Amino acid sequence: MSVLVPTMGALHKGHQALIKRARMLSKEVVVSIFINPLQFEDPTEITKYPRTPERDIELATLAGATEIWMPEYEEIYPGEIKKLKASSLGDSYEGASRPGHFDGVVTVVNRLFEIVRPQASIFGEKDFQQLQIIHAMKSPVEIIGVPTVREYDGLALSSRNIRLSQSGRMSANVIYRAMTAARLAPTIAIAQEIIDTTISTEIGFKCDYAVIIDEADFSLATDSTKHKRAIIAGWIDGVRLIDNMRMGA
Ligand code: PAF
Repeated sequence: MSVLVPTMGALHKGHQALIKRARMLSKEVVVSIFINPLQFEDPTEITKYPRTPERDIELATLAGATEIWMPEYEEIYPGEIKKLKASSLGDSYEGASRPGHFDGVVTVVNRLFEIVRPQASIFGEKDFQQLQIIHAMKSPVEIIGVPTVREYDGLALSSRNIRLSQSGRMSANVIYRAMTAARLAPTIAIAQEIIDTTISTEIGFKCDYAVIIDEADFSLATDSTKHKRAIIAGWIDGVRLIDNMRMGA
């Protein structure tokens, strides 16, 4: 069976963890590298997206990829694009801040699945809302989530981190600090207060949202919610950072 690891390139250790997981499942691991214009609501973002193809090939191969596929635009979108609509899980948070983003993601993921026809596909938990929306596509492809890989100070690995200034980089683990401080709080209200207070101390961080949600439907969690998750997004130096963590023991 083949396993697909879809990426937009600028690979790092987080992607390598996805590829290694794929390799544990299969001898055939396809890594796709395609910067999908449909998921960039701001056209200037796509021009800023880092492109490191030689290094990508090296890192993917080292992690165990058996095929690295860098399709051209026309291969993914020949003729008129049939845009898919993401599940309503995509209406809030990332979806609200980045209109059309998740429709672009499900459209490209569907095309990648149509072309590669993998049995399974691997995605990072770092983009937790994306992962849940891809699950909700109800495709016959098995969807597997892999835990977030972090820097020494807790910052989630992301291709965007290299755009942070030196001081921005030092502040950027505020999201991780807020989530770990709140994780074992006895109630949602206390956990939320800890998150808000931690974030407010970092003046360089412009918060977009910082909430604790029910993983099943992205509604706000209550104390009786089974699986609660903190999801946080914001900007430092104009660079968008997002992260999440399961709350509770
Ligand atoms: O998470 C990403 O890198 C992208 O959203 C994905 C899943 C490769 C689709 O373009």
